[in-house]
Amino acid sequence: MQTPLCRRLGCELPIFAFSHCRDVVVEVTRAGGFGVLGASTFSPEQLEAELRWIDEHVDGRPYGVDVIIPTSYDTQAEKTSEDLHQLIPQTHRDFVENILSEAGIPPLPPHEKERVEREIVQGRGGMTPDGARRLLAVTLSHPQVRLVVSALGSPPPDVIADLRGRGIVIGAMCGKAEHAERHMAAGVEVIVAQGTEAGGHTGEIATMVLVPQVVEACGDRVAVLAAGGIARGSQIAAALALGAQGVWCGTVWLGTRESELDAFEKEVLFEAGASDAVRRKARTGKTVRMLKSRLSEAWEQPGAPAYLPTPLQGILYNEAHARVVRAKRKDLYSFPAGQVVGMINEESSVRDVMYRMQLEYLEAVERLQTFTPAT
Ligand SMILES: Cc1cc2nc3c(=O)[nH]c(=O)nc-3n(C[C@H](O)[C@H](O)[C@H](O)COP(=O)(O)O)c2cc1C
Repeated sequence: MQTPLCRRLGCELPIFAFSHCRDVVVEVTRAGGFGVLGASTFSPEQLEAELRWIDEHVDGRPYGVDVIIPTSYDTQAEKTSEDLHQLIPQTHRDFVENILSEAGIPPLPPHEKERVEREIVQGRGGMTPDGARRLLAVTLSHPQVRLVVSALGSPPPDVIADLRGRGIVIGAMCGKAEHAERHMAAGVEVIVAQGTEAGGHTGEIATMVLVPQVVEACGDRVAVLAAGGIARGSQIAAALALGAQGVWCGTVWLGTRESELDAFEKEVLFEAGASDAVRRKARTGKTVRMLKSRLSEAWEQPGAPAYLPTPLQGILYNEAHARVVRAKRKDLYSFPAGQVVGMINEESSVRDVMYRMQLEYLEAVERLQTFTPAT
């Protein structure tokens, strides 16, 4: 199962795990896969603490970091030295407050409100080009980071040159074959072809169509990873058959013991079916596949205010989300998740998921061999 990209990066299995949770990154890496920490919601100080912890727990193995470098965002938010809260219009605040108070969701207690607001604003500040650079500066002081992946656009030329100079492999997310051309021209070396099934920011083309298109566009110039809709070993076998050098999974880790979700959130996840994972702009102002709820749907109704640009929509949404989680209200709970959420029905450990996927992969390969007559 080891592919050339695994050998280049120094891991045994072509299973890449995207997670905002350091425990998942560590467990996948220790199990032979390649953990990638989603850094975009951390402040630089938080990221430093997370990476230091990962360094101490991966037994010297390499791992990756993912940053969001958006090509479109609120330019005022990028420039402001003020509290980003002040850029959120009162009409939008009132819209959210009405939904929550009509549903009987209490405000957060003052000390928690202050902490949550501070953390969200500090974190969302990382979702602008300058914010991403601050996170990258932290990342570069951790030599075990072997791969840096950029979401929502190719990294700028100076960032590419800097990463290359340090021997760090550069990746980028891609939802269309045209994006792959742009990424290669920019100097990207690993393209994560992410189909619409995926949780998080996602496009419209399905993984089954996108991966071979991107593989054809890239030839042997760069490695391609398949993302979106992968939670079983049979899907790994399919992705490798399509020409990918590995799989990049996100949703499958949400249901693990190590994940950042609490027991209430996991319950919602385990009850959700594939069609509950819908594409909406409510969470960040860009299209995200997430669990459908009354809160995600509110913005779709006639008379709802327009979505705010990144990162302001995220600040507005996440403060409301914190109240919903505290009140444990399933009807209003939305979190990014892909269609494979319908295949995740109970908690398991990261190690168990890694083991199960390898077994399923071998079964799938054996199944294929039964269709190929021995010569
Ligand atoms: C909760 C969650 C948050 C995500 N956040 C990001 C992100 O910050 N940056 C990014 O590149 N991808 C993000 N993604 C997408 C993943 O990197 C990955 O491509 C996707 O989860 C793969 O599809 P799957 O969800 O079907 O496994 C996120 C996915 C999930 C489920």
